[in-house]
This record gives sequence, C-alpha cells and structure tokens, in this order.
Amino acid sequence: MRTIAISGSGSGIGAALRVRLESDGARVIGVDLKGAEIEADLSSADGRTRACAAVLSQTDGILDGVVACAGLGPHLEDAPAIAAVNYFGAVAWLSGLRAALSRGTAPAAVAVSSNSITISPGADGPLMKACLADDETLARGLARDGINAYAGAKLALARWVRREAVSAAWAGAGIRLNAVAPGVTKTPMIEAGLASKTLGDAIRLLPVPLSDAAQPQQIAAAIAFLLGADASFCCGSVLFVDGGSDALLCPARP
Ligand SMILES: NC(=O)c1ccc[n+]([C@@H]2O[C@H](COP(=O)([O-])OP(=O)(O)OC[C@H]3O[C@@H](n4cnc5c(N)ncnc54)[C@H](O)[C@@H]3O)[C@@H](O)[C@H]2O)c1
Repeated sequence: MRTIAISGSGSGIGAALRVRLESDGARVIGVDLKGAEIEADLSSADGRTRACAAVLSQTDGILDGVVACAGLGPHLEDAPAIAAVNYFGAVAWLSGLRAALSRGTAPAAVAVSSNSITISPGADGPLMKACLADDETLARGLARDGINAYAGAKLALARWVRREAVSAAWAGAGIRLNAVAPGVTKTPMIEAGLASKTLGDAIRLLPVPLSDAAQPQQIAAAIAFLLGADASFCCGSVLFVDGGSDALLCPARP
C-alpha cells in the first residue's frame, strides 16, 4: 500500500484527491488547519516544522508520495499570508518530507500551482524573485494585494519545482517532482473568489475553451497521474489542467 501525505486535504482539490487516492488503495495522511489527521498551520515556520514532524512520526519516516495542495485564494486581503502559505508553506512541506520520500517506493511529489502564473500581468516580478531567493520577510513585504501575491507565489512555486526537480536531491535520489497548474475549479476557494468585488468578474470573464470550470475530481485525476507509474518519466513538468485557457491566451508559450 502506498503512503501519501497531502497538505490542504480538508477541502476542495485536496479533499477530492484524498478520495481518489484512497479509492486507488493508498493510505493518505492529511494536513490542514482542521479536519485532517494532522492539524497544523503552514503559514508559520513553527507550523511547518510541526506538520512535517507529525507526518514523519506517523509514517516511520517513509513516504511514497507528497502533495502540496494547501493554499489561500487571491480574493483574500491578507496578501502576506498568501505568499507565506502558497510558496513558503508549500516549499517547506515538500523539502521537509523529501528524505522520507527517498526511502519510499517509486516516490513522487506534486506541487499545486495555478494557471494564473501565465495569465496574470506582473507575476514575474519582485515578489516572485524574493520567494525563489528564500527571503520570506521580503516576499511578505512585497505582497501588496491578493492577486499579485497569489500569482507571484504560484509562479515561484512552479519555477522552484523546475529548478529542484532535476537536482541531485530529487531526480538524483530517484524522486520525481512535478507540478499541476489548475484553472478555475469548483471549490470553496473559487466560490469565495466569485463573490469578491475585485476578482469575481475576472474569474467569470476568463475564457475556458472546454467549459466554464473544472470539478475538483478532474484536478485530482491529474495529480494522481503525476504521482503514479504512468508518469514515470515526468520530471519538472508543469501540467496545465485548465480547459485550454493557457493555450488560448498564451499560444506562443513554450
Ligand atoms: N479552485 C481553483 O480554481 C484553483 C485554481 C488554481 C489553483 N488552485 C490551488 O489549488 C489548491 C487547492 O485549492 P482549492 O481550490 O481546493 O481551495 P480550498 O480553499 O477548497 O482548499 C484549500 C485548503 O488549504 C487549506 N489551508 C489554507 N491555508 C492553510 C494553512 N495555513 N495551513 C494548512 N492548510 C491551509 C485550507 O484549510 C483548505 O482546506 C490551492 O493551492 C489553490 O491555490 C485552485
């Protein structure tokens, strides 16, 4: 039986992923603010350390999969917290469990980024660079609004995945590290975004060639793919699962 740790397992995509992986026969250890095996706050260094230590103690230090799904939405006013959870919380979670993955079977990790990384003007800016430079104080200080903090932190997370995936610590240790970049997905986070005055219209107006939004199970299926044997040659990939929005709006990328 595979053992897989998921942050943000209590809601939305993380909850759908738990159902999917358990139905595939895996044991899931969830971390969330509440409603999970391990309750911890990934916005703080202390919470990140406690979350990883609790996972290690519940798994004898051996994991086959890790997913960084916990995140805060761009509708929130606390922009520094968005940078803290969506980049620093995700990176600390993945890094803190990497050694346990190196002792697992066909180990793989997936970070949940966002398709906002290519379609948000200014994402590739100072906040994104502060994240990649591991300067949390500066990144928090540069987080001026939710949309800027969200897109910058999610772009940094995708680039962190591409930088680290090929390194001795990950690929060199036989651990596959990849990312998904979901588009608009019907979860409590997007419901809150739709209700927001600043963000609601932008979400509604985003063109999605396949449909208006994904179900969380569709994103969970892509994450399950990246965790599994069918993705055994995927390393440092950022898989857009967004109904075609990125292809439509950014046809020259890559
Ligand atoms: N829903 C979308 O349209 C969409 C699109 C692109 C990317 N994403 C990303 O997918 C991931 C899952 O989002 P979702 O839509 O399922 O949202 P959601 O709000 O339903 O779930 C997010 C989960 O993360 C947890 N979380 C938030 N802050 C935390 C913290 N400090 N410590 C521990 N857990 C924390 C929440 O409690 C919640 O259970 C997020 O990283 C989000 O940015 C979502």
